[in-house]
Amino acid sequence: MKRIRIGNIECKNSLILAPMAGITDLPFRLLCAREGAGLVCMEMISAKAILYKNRNTEEMMKTDERERPVSLQLFGSDPGIMAEIAKKIGDKSFDILDINMGCPMPKIVNNGEGSALMRDPELVSRIVGEVVRATDKPVTVKIRKGFDKDHVNAVEIAKRIEDAGASAVAVHGRTREQLYEGKADWEIIARVKEAVSIPVIGNGDVTDGESAKRMLEETGCDAVMIGRAARGNPWIFRNIGTFLETGKEPERPSLSEVIDTAKEHAKMLTEEKGEYIAVREMRKHVGWYVQGLRGSSSIRRNVCNITTLPDLLKFLDDIRESEYNF
Ligand SMILES: Cc1cc2nc3c(=O)[nH]c(=O)nc-3n(C[C@H](O)[C@H](O)[C@H](O)COP(=O)(O)O)c2cc1C
Repeated sequence: MKRIRIGNIECKNSLILAPMAGITDLPFRLLCAREGAGLVCMEMISAKAILYKNRNTEEMMKTDERERPVSLQLFGSDPGIMAEIAKKIGDKSFDILDINMGCPMPKIVNNGEGSALMRDPELVSRIVGEVVRATDKPVTVKIRKGFDKDHVNAVEIAKRIEDAGASAVAVHGRTREQLYEGKADWEIIARVKEAVSIPVIGNGDVTDGESAKRMLEETGCDAVMIGRAARGNPWIFRNIGTFLETGKEPERPSLSEVIDTAKEHAKMLTEEKGEYIAVREMRKHVGWYVQGLRGSSSIRRNVCNITTLPDLLKFLDDIRESEYNF
């Protein structure tokens, strides 16, 4: 499979784990990297929170050699602060600095950050230009199709991003107004690809080998970025890779393999965040791991009563021993 090169960083292939707040923490990224993601993206981090030394951000910025290459995503709207932070974190162990221009959440957008930046092309140029000048790492930007259906400007914004010195642009084919609903528009990804010469990463609705292949063919994009379909399914990267190379989608992992991975995930998360937080965060991951399993709704209900790691590991083993199956 082709490897995407972003600035001086050669990724392992052209399948990228999308940044997802609350999901793509270090343990989940390690699993995805091991299972074939060519680049993994961290959860978005507020530039202002780093500036004010918010305790959480140090933990969020933690990386591991085994996951690299890894991309750190900043959000913010003040070019000076963004550049200052880019410089300040320049010696940390991450490979690519990404700027968030796609987040649709009201508390971000109402602050003029995330996808709100797409309404201000001048500001986009200033932020990207200043961040590029402030760091030695390749800078990428993640954008949407536009702010709403009357303001579809991904092509104009991507050109500005390229002109300001960014090394790649990721395009999610939905407007801010659409949030995560409706079908992603891949046509806009194709139009961005025609308009710029930096690598273009396509994003939105890739769920398996067939859809990844179709996105690559229909848009000409250089890499595909996978978000929601990776939840509870870190194997998606290897499976898509195999499909792209052989035309055959491998069998999904057995229930036993899924349980082993979920247990490993729970242990890693406990090491990183402590048992109290890890067990609570694992409830949603377990829900995703058992998606498609007959009886998964009762598993999702029952996992919410679990409060300790030993109980969670036993709960997972009991699923393996039960009659449940995919
Ligand atoms: C729970 C959740 C959290 C997300 N957090 C981020 C984020 O921190 N930064 C970002 O650029 N995009 C974020 N996204 C958007 C995804 O990166 C991606 O663009 C979107 O889910 C579409 O891709 P998909 O169809 O493969 O899921 C998030 C999406 C979800 C569902």
